Amino acid sequence: MRRPRVLSGVQPTGAIHIGNWIGAIRNWVDLQETHETFFCVVDLHAITVPHNNKQLAEETLSTAAIYMACGISPEQSTIFVQSHVSAHSELCWLLNCLTPLNWMERMIQFKEKSIKQGENVSIGLFDYPVLMAADILLYEADLVPVGEDQKQHLELARDIAQQRINSNYGDKENPILKVPKPLITKQGSRIMSLVDGHSKMSKSDPNENSRISLLDTPELISRKIKRAKTDPILGIELNNPQRPEAGNLLRIYSSLSGLEENIAIQTCADMGWGTFKPLLTETIISSLQPIQEKYFNLMKDKGELIELLRQGQNKAEQVAEKTLKKLKDAIGFLDID
Ligand code: TRP
Repeated sequence: MRRPRVLSGVQPTGAIHIGNWIGAIRNWVDLQETHETFFCVVDLHAITVPHNNKQLAEETLSTAAIYMACGISPEQSTIFVQSHVSAHSELCWLLNCLTPLNWMERMIQFKEKSIKQGENVSIGLFDYPVLMAADILLYEADLVPVGEDQKQHLELARDIAQQRINSNYGDKENPILKVPKPLITKQGSRIMSLVDGHSKMSKSDPNENSRISLLDTPELISRKIKRAKTDPILGIELNNPQRPEAGNLLRIYSSLSGLEENIAIQTCADMGWGTFKPLLTETIISSLQPIQEKYFNLMKDKGELIELLRQGQNKAEQVAEKTLKKLKDAIGFLDID
């Protein structure tokens, strides 16, 4: 029996921050022990909004290095770049032709993103969820770790696989595609902005002070925590809805210090901000330090990093090509191999 398979990805745009790490990448590291894991850098998704063509390659490499620096191992996992495996684009086209337009018109994230883009909305942005479905279905993933904002996209992938492919072309014993399930990650995974406890920490927030990037220097971390939004109340609490900022900073502290939430709650219950903030700053700096060291080491030898991505590409391609072939046969294309 093979281990259950997991696939996930992050876009190579904007610096990866502690919200991405605590909420996603750190859980991927643990999954490597129990699952067969595929992690891609989704550069095809990155071009669904205007992108900088001078930076895309470097950011792609840097994102892969961050994965590895965080503990995703090229031996245990398949780490690859989405555009290096052409089956993603090809499957996306096939799925496009099988996906009803009215399913797509319900996609909430598209509506939100397209408002931000104003006049400049590409068909690719509309098609983003189908490309994501292709990513997932190609690897016959059993589980996909996703946050709240991606659940609807995963649901779409399930519906396409089940209702548009398996039920039309497969039979019960031999489904063509695996129908993936969401993997809901542990509590504490939702890290909020440092300047507004009601909105999620985001790569695209124009305010740099809203997030701590994994590569921020100790000085920068210290400054951002000093500026983080607080309130005039003594004692740090986790679950007081009136105090979202206190809750968020305590959650970050608990996640990074390794203290159980209830212990963290007790430890900080009587602290004022003047005691808590330096403690939090130290905790963040020391937990990022080993990641940064590993990252800069990896980026020193780009040839080696590229070689690792080539190996990832080969491993990914073998799996992806098989699924693609299965679907093309099911659709009825002339096969001359
Ligand atoms: N849309 C995802 C996000 O923004 C990134 C992504 C692309 C993804 N393809 C994926 C995540 C496949 C999981 C599986 O977070």
